[in-house]
Amino acid sequence: MAAASDSLTRQSTLSDYAAQVAGCTRCRLAQGRTQVVFGVGDPDADLMFVGEAPGFHEDQQGFPFVGQAGKLLDRLLAGIGLERGDVYIANILKCRPPGNRDPQPDEIEACESHLFRQMELIEPRVVATLGNFATKLLSGKQHGITRVHGVVQETTLGGRRVALYPLYHPAAALYTPAMLRTLEEDFSRIPALLEHELPAPAPVIQLPVRRPLATATAQEQLGLF
Ligand code: URA
Repeated sequence: MAAASDSLTRQSTLSDYAAQVAGCTRCRLAQGRTQVVFGVGDPDADLMFVGEAPGFHEDQQGFPFVGQAGKLLDRLLAGIGLERGDVYIANILKCRPPGNRDPQPDEIEACESHLFRQMELIEPRVVATLGNFATKLLSGKQHGITRVHGVVQETTLGGRRVALYPLYHPAAALYTPAMLRTLEEDFSRIPALLEHELPAPAPVIQLPVRRPLATATAQEQLGLF
């Protein structure tokens, strides 16, 4: 929980950044969008969810997860005593891909720095990735969600140590009861994750820089060091 002044600064920096991203034209998706869907929730949240990309309703309303998948996300949050205002919700892509197709690699590449900046400003302690795209991007690994869901991966995001917690995407769980049960079970472990302090990152050890011979001192050239 941030001090009040830190919280105000964070809020205003995040909303300045949202205003900047609202005009983004880094990729082709800018042409077809109704608006940029930046993110929603508490800028001081300890828990951040990262989905894939806005769909039809998100594009219309300007907020992530407002369609059927969003209603399920709200229900899952309520099941652990939380609501939208307690967490932060964003997507990898800030603009809707036409026909809700999968994000393309060049679109992810163009957009990912917006997400990384959001994480840097919000400083969540737990980042729950929803589905394959967010999990692969933020874990930096190609393991599929079926294999890694519900297993915490400690990693560094936005310059800080976080617990990355992969989950099935609510849209996938909507029509698959077994997946929904698994998602509910994985969700039930979130409160315990929020209690847990991650160890500080190992200090970065600066290795001596080897200078080119031309700049080496006379003593070095004599092999004294
Ligand atoms: N699916 C997502 O990944 N994000 C949304 O905002 C809505 C549906």
